[in-house]
Amino acid sequence: MKAYRASLLYFAAPGGGAGRAIFEEDGLLVTASNGSGVQRVQAIGDYRSVAARYPDVPVEHWSGRIIAPGFVDMHIHFPQVDVIGSPAEGLLPWLEHYTFPHESRFSDAAYNAPVAAFFIDELLRQGVTTALAFASSHPAAVDSLLGEAQSRGLRMIAGKVLMDQNSPDGVRDDTTQSLVDTEALINKWHGVDRLGYAITPRFVPSCSAVQMQGAGELAAKYPDVWVQSHVAENRDEVAWVKTLYPDARSYLSVYEQFGLLRPRAVYAHCIYLDSEDRALMQSTGTSAAVSPTSNLFLGSGFFDYMAADEAGFMYGLASDVGGGTSFSPFHTMLAAYYVGREGQTKPGVSLNPQQLWWQHTAGAARALGLEGLIGNLQPGCEADFVIINPQATPLLARKTALAGNLDELLFALIVLGDDRLIEKTVIAGSSVSGKVV
Ligand code: GUN
Ligand code: ZN
Repeated sequence: MKAYRASLLYFAAPGGGAGRAIFEEDGLLVTASNGSGVQRVQAIGDYRSVAARYPDVPVEHWSGRIIAPGFVDMHIHFPQVDVIGSPAEGLLPWLEHYTFPHESRFSDAAYNAPVAAFFIDELLRQGVTTALAFASSHPAAVDSLLGEAQSRGLRMIAGKVLMDQNSPDGVRDDTTQSLVDTEALINKWHGVDRLGYAITPRFVPSCSAVQMQGAGELAAKYPDVWVQSHVAENRDEVAWVKTLYPDARSYLSVYEQFGLLRPRAVYAHCIYLDSEDRALMQSTGTSAAVSPTSNLFLGSGFFDYMAADEAGFMYGLASDVGGGTSFSPFHTMLAAYYVGREGQTKPGVSLNPQQLWWQHTAGAARALGLEGLIGNLQPGCEADFVIINPQATPLLARKTALAGNLDELLFALIVLGDDRLIEKTVIAGSSVSGKVV
């Protein structure tokens, strides 16, 4: 067992008010190993009462620091680390000019293995402890990424991208082989240690009907495997899908037609949905990955928070690196706040900082079907957490000292924060990044 004394930020247990944050000024977090080396939260609460129950457990004291759940990134592209900040008129030219040529390099394990190590280092440095990631279309890229995650004890879900049409040489895959490879990768990686597999049709334009059909069959055969894709991100993309499937009711309905909407299916962007689409998201248990830095950078549009909440489907935050501009959950939360203010079909909302934080931790975990396991520090959760230094910069120190309540504190961290706030990242109870204690 281990114990950490610090301020604690976590969220109400399921049923206890989704998104309600709990803050313990002087708290104690106790973790215990489950026998397989993964520490889980044993107890959490105010220091005096929890310490009295665990008198023999040695305590690490993180004075002035805040322990919070590790962040969950619901949508990120491993082979796009070096694509960040590539300007283009919009999504489709960006894919053609920067993304596809770059991803073609990932067929080579000698190239992609060091990038996988960098990618995971960067996630951890920024306090991200779980990600749902696109690899490239090459199985070798999945092997490098999940192999690296496994060796670090990181919870990671990833998949080989399916793209057998409208894609250039070097990234385009073969229809039959792509499905054989996907099934082999599911059998190799899904459920191994903390790893998961996601069936990954890139988006409707890049997948033939046969490939989509095969993906849907695998999604039915392996119901606890994830599905990830993109939908309704960009107006030109939506118009293209309309020409490919003129009889489909909507872009989203094409995925439905192939059996790709279900619990554990996660669709990035979900900007150009209508009310029927939103109802379909909700009724099928499908989740959205909201990627505000990407949508602002590529000029894609704005996720409609109010409409999503009215429909009641699940969503969480995501970086979408490299369309997204930052690995930092603080940057993503701030961009989500801006988007809430602007671009809504009804007058803008002022997203509450507790809600924003929840969307990138416990809410994202719920949207991935991993509620109660990650994204929170309730007893039973895996001990993935960050140690935040609210005085990491002179301005943060001034501003957080003035905070009169939890919302003011969280707003200060979201607006002024970045990787400098993350003093340490702990994975399954082991320190993996940051200062050695
Ligand atoms: N749609 C299809 N592929 C991609 C991608 O790599 N990034 C984004 N943002 N959208 C996509
Ligand atoms: Zn994406």
